[in-house]
Amino acid sequence: MAEQKATNIKWHHGKVTRENRIELMKQKGATIWLTGLSGSGKSTVAVELEHALLENKYLAYILDGDNIRHGLNKNLGFSPEDRTENIRRIGEVARLFTDANVIAITAFISPYRQDRDNIRRLLKDGEFIEVYIKCPLEVCEQRDTKGLYKKAREGTVKEFTGISAPYEEPLNPELTIDTSNMSVEESTRAILNYLEEKNYVKFS
Ligand code: ADX
Repeated sequence: MAEQKATNIKWHHGKVTRENRIELMKQKGATIWLTGLSGSGKSTVAVELEHALLENKYLAYILDGDNIRHGLNKNLGFSPEDRTENIRRIGEVARLFTDANVIAITAFISPYRQDRDNIRRLLKDGEFIEVYIKCPLEVCEQRDTKGLYKKAREGTVKEFTGISAPYEEPLNPELTIDTSNMSVEESTRAILNYLEEKNYVKFS
């Protein structure tokens, strides 16, 4: 957990409540947390999911590891400490989005169970939907969409998840999607079905 450095700060409450936003937007914000190996399909599924939700008049917004590391988290690398800080910050951003009543879809490897569990605690009950984008390492490595597995095997990319850095599988995710035997459409549909079953959304 990050240390609280600032002192003499006070929380300010607005006049607009979460319920006001729910009423206005006709939706309820939540965080759909996609976790899995590099190349497992997190970003691809996130893109389809965001689009499908929009088509059904739900506002969703993707927070993607590769993208966030160009800006907000550009000062972080891939050591265990930096990954933890990466996920801590994104957890806070996801909490803000959720409070703003948007459906946040996050696509980060987020390899440490404890880091993910911290975000679950940060959000209210039912607001954190952990989706394990499961795919065997061999399949991710075969896909090697970014050529990073090859570099990790050669040793030119260090601390690479699954090769030279750990990935801790979720123990109790809300949903597991195996992208090695499900198409992008099927994977997206499975998440949409879950969201509808649990009354996060209602499709006409
Ligand atoms: S996380 O572990 O801190 O959650 P994050 O999802 O933000 O990682 O970023 C992962 C992406 O960074 C990968 O998809 C890959 O494109 C790139 N990357 C570069 N170096 C590494 C590395 N050593 N380990 C994992 N991913 C890396």
